[in-house]
Amino acid sequence: MENMDLGIKLGKLRLNTPIVCASGTFGYGDELKDLVDFKNIGAVIAKTITLSPRKGNPEPRIYETQCGVMNAVGLQNPGLKAFIKEKLPLMRKLTTKRIVSVGGFSNQEYKRIVRRLDEEKGLDAFEINLSCPNIQLKKLISQNAPATYQLTKSLRKLTKKPLFIKITPEVNDVAEIAKAVQDGGADAVSLVNTYFAMAINIETQKPYLGNGYGGYSGPAIKPLSLYRVWKVAKAVKIPIIGGGGIENSCDAIEFILAGATAISLGTVNLIDPDASKDVLKGIKAYMKRKNIKSIKNLRGGLIEPKMG
Ligand SMILES: Cc1cc2nc3c(=O)[nH]c(=O)nc-3n(C[C@H](O)[C@H](O)[C@H](O)COP(=O)(O)O)c2cc1C
Repeated sequence: MENMDLGIKLGKLRLNTPIVCASGTFGYGDELKDLVDFKNIGAVIAKTITLSPRKGNPEPRIYETQCGVMNAVGLQNPGLKAFIKEKLPLMRKLTTKRIVSVGGFSNQEYKRIVRRLDEEKGLDAFEINLSCPNIQLKKLISQNAPATYQLTKSLRKLTKKPLFIKITPEVNDVAEIAKAVQDGGADAVSLVNTYFAMAINIETQKPYLGNGYGGYSGPAIKPLSLYRVWKVAKAVKIPIIGGGGIENSCDAIEFILAGATAISLGTVNLIDPDASKDVLKGIKAYMKRKNIKSIKNLRGGLIEPKMG
């Protein structure tokens, strides 16, 4: 099937493939340009930036478990000014779509960053990170539906660029939060960010992570994340950027069958930055085998069991 259609749309943003590289696991894209074939990647989501530079959390910031990775990077980034001066010119050279990830410690900070970056050329969309687990906030914005709605709505007024909101899986009802994102006017909802987690060294009796706890990602979180994407797909009409623990094409197809429009690769990039190549190859082979010409026809293709 030569004329297979793998293109997807997130709002008005068209991606050539459904694969996006998740924030924080792919730098600003440019660092990996010699290792990666960008034609397999629909978009790169840059590391979250904040208004002021951040050094991040005390070391160690990464702790590996048998089937996942805990991180407590703490949004280390050069801040808005240096991002515009040093990183954005590199991102503009990428031969795929470029999404900037925005973090903040108040609604005002989010608004200032979006207002400023909206003026810049070469950014295709915003992903608003309302879900970083390791920055010592009492509560994440995306743990509160009215707060999520309010901030989404006010950011929507500031930009015509595609606006995606990244939410936490750490809530009772993730569909309620996704609905707040949709009602606030976002073009897509992105899930999942990492899960709160910790590990203790029993000899020192101290946590392994310098921050005490962190965010868990990788294969261990896949079933949990797939369930949340499936729940959200039933609740909203806007596209979903779905992921959490995707390692290969079978994982990716599961997320698409559950209703994701785009699928995000995170932790797997730390092992193989060119993971998108095999993931895309596997999706194509599956579509060929199932005689599916357009990825649209795969989306939400889960056959639900009949409830008794
Ligand atoms: C080392 C590391 C740093 C991360 N930094 C960010 C970040 O800056 N902003 C963000 O939205 N998500 C960040 N994430 C979360 C990932 O983007 C992704 O949502 C999460 O890891 C789940 O997907 P995965 O299991 O495929 O990694 C980070 C994840 C890791 C492992």
